[in-house]
Amino acid sequence: MEKIRIIGSPEKPLRGKVTISGAKNAVLPAIAASLLTREKVHLTNIPLVKDVFTILTLMSELGAEYEINGNSLTIVTRDVIRHEASYQLVRAMRASILVLGPLLARHGQAVVALPGGCAIGSRPIDLHLHGLEKLGANFILEHGYIKAEAKKLRGTVIEFEKKTVGGTENLIMAATLAEGETILKNCAQEPEVADLCELLIKMGAKIDGVGEETIRIKGVSELGGTSHDIIPDRIEAGTFLVAGALTRGDIHLDQVRPDHMTTIIEKLRYSGAKIEEKEEGSLRVQGSEEIKPQDIVTSPYPGFPTDMQAQFMVLMTQANGTSIITETIFDRRFLHVNELLRLGANIEVHGDKAIIKGKTPLSGAETTATDLRASACLILAGLIAKGETIINDIEHLDRGYERIEEKLKQLGASIERISTEKENKK
Ligand code: EPZ
Repeated sequence: MEKIRIIGSPEKPLRGKVTISGAKNAVLPAIAASLLTREKVHLTNIPLVKDVFTILTLMSELGAEYEINGNSLTIVTRDVIRHEASYQLVRAMRASILVLGPLLARHGQAVVALPGGCAIGSRPIDLHLHGLEKLGANFILEHGYIKAEAKKLRGTVIEFEKKTVGGTENLIMAATLAEGETILKNCAQEPEVADLCELLIKMGAKIDGVGEETIRIKGVSELGGTSHDIIPDRIEAGTFLVAGALTRGDIHLDQVRPDHMTTIIEKLRYSGAKIEEKEEGSLRVQGSEEIKPQDIVTSPYPGFPTDMQAQFMVLMTQANGTSIITETIFDRRFLHVNELLRLGANIEVHGDKAIIKGKTPLSGAETTATDLRASACLILAGLIAKGETIINDIEHLDRGYERIEEKLKQLGASIERISTEKENKK
């Protein structure tokens, strides 16, 4: 097991330049989409994070061959040799469900383990299944698996009951090879969904309404290979913007898409941070002495992203006054609160609301990460907590952040990764 040790201080501003990696939540559907063709798909600017290797393990089991060169991936599935996503893989990464739509479209069959819950709440896939059924798929649920088959998918009109990123992605991918036109309504509008559409269009898909709530897909008989550059990770970028604001630092972010981060930038400016777009694809954040409290409600894009909720909560512990964060997307995404309390934060949770009273000085402590964004939140808190903070169970962190401790070290943080085996031998 590995953990992270930080020697923090409220007087230690982070300064310097950081390059943001490609978006985890864009590369995962892009890799699943490569199932839709027997030709090579070449993806650049991929983040070398654990979830990428997990989905590549799954893709290999299905019959894909791939090669990674630096941050570039070439992947091809000439023949689907298996059509099963095992419980172990789905349990390790819920986004494995993204192979369901492409497998049905390409291969007519799929067996995918039902993704149970996870640390941030129940993670049903009913909206994925209802949509795919409307396209003509049949499902049997038994022994914790979905056994799906579809002789031929036929286009139709599908309206999502609620916005779902993965559900929208699965249906778009399935519809690209369905007969006739599919109209998807109430689609998720996250930039990662739009990036998937751009990739599919390059592969020969006929898609109108990219980035909109209604997307029209005209099915084609087959898709081809292509090359595609993965968009920057807006959540990693948001995490570093918060780090700059929190430590009253001055950080220059390269390889970002500010147009994907308008709400994050708006909320940080309101809190007092100075954020400038320096030149194309870069941002500069300068923290302010005084941090203003504010209320945040997470909502589907273009609203405030749930994946930034935990990170923002740390900033609000240093604001002068009371802030209320309402989490509307997941039913249990406050597990990081208990860990922040150990560091001295003053937070109360009432249902879907967390009430944060600031400004509270934090002091270093041993903590445990529960999920990906909670890990990032604990690192941010450790940067300004006085003394040593230890974060256990950092495998969560590695799922979605590429070398975050090295990037923070370059900005002046006293942070290191320690393996418990070495530590115990001392
Ligand atoms: C994607 O998850 C992201 N993951 C999540 O990022 C992100 O938090 C989430 O979208 C919301 O933005 C990837 O893209 C790989 P949803 P996804 O389907 O697709 C409910 C991170 O930290 N729902 O938009 O699983 C669901 O329970 C991760 O990078 C149903 O009820 O999210 C949730 O309450 C965490 N039925 C809400 O909708 C369904 O069939 C939004 O889920 C599907 C979802």
